[in-house]
Amino acid sequence: MSWGLKNRLSKIIKPKTGKTVMLAVDHGYFLGPTTGLKKPVETISALQQYADALMLTRGVLRASVSDKIEVPIVLRVSGGTSVLTELSNEGLTCAMEDALRLNASAVALSIFVGAQYERQTLLNLAKLVDEGEQCGMPVLAVTAVGKDMGRDARYLGLACRIAAELGAHFVKTYYCKDFSQIVDSCPVPIVVAGGTKVSEKEALELAYNAISEGAVGVDMGRNIFQSDYPVAMIKAVRSIVHDGFNVNEALDLFEKGKKEKQKKFD
Ligand code: R5P
Repeated sequence: MSWGLKNRLSKIIKPKTGKTVMLAVDHGYFLGPTTGLKKPVETISALQQYADALMLTRGVLRASVSDKIEVPIVLRVSGGTSVLTELSNEGLTCAMEDALRLNASAVALSIFVGAQYERQTLLNLAKLVDEGEQCGMPVLAVTAVGKDMGRDARYLGLACRIAAELGAHFVKTYYCKDFSQIVDSCPVPIVVAGGTKVSEKEALELAYNAISEGAVGVDMGRNIFQSDYPVAMIKAVRSIVHDGFNVNEALDLFEKGKKEKQKKFD
């Protein structure tokens, strides 16, 4: 890795703890106005100070984020599909030159292993890695799961390993049973997605288990911004990722945080 690439990555995965809490707010790129993100500016401005990185598209970045922001940006650069069509048919949606102009600290794209357009998305990744290497830009491969694909260690382990083999600098995947096997067979850092909204306790358990089993952090969206207490929730997630809290300690922090004034997002 070049100095610039390592430096960009260190903005996201904090050297002090070796961990990261990324806030994923990129869902609109194929889901449209998702609950909790209908007005991205409100969600992002309230939560950004608690995030180690923001994952989003260039459209939302330009329209909804101040250019004074100090939080590093992980720019989603794949898309081209909607929830109404075949999700795996993604292409690259943002040139590396624009990612550099936007001062991104990493770029992210989805791969769909086992899906109809698997080859296309894997070649997208290889191309993006080539471009990233040229200009010192880390690439996050998102192991997206198509409609018919399971979320087990065998499948996600396959997807993560392929992403790493093709040169991704870090990988985002889902937590599942035997998650440590995925970590053990993937030579680059893994962050976990939160997935669909569950109770705060379940989401904190997911974060705790993932960190305990070797993830370097979370890239969590809906379980934070769809919570009735989003600020309390992201603080509780941080306590697990960065401060070594267990689930009960993090839940206590969440309960205390609920008493602070905060907005539930539309
Ligand atoms: C989905 O492909 C998006 O990249 C999201 O960033 C990802 O799913 C993480 O968000 P959540 O925690 O809501 O699953």
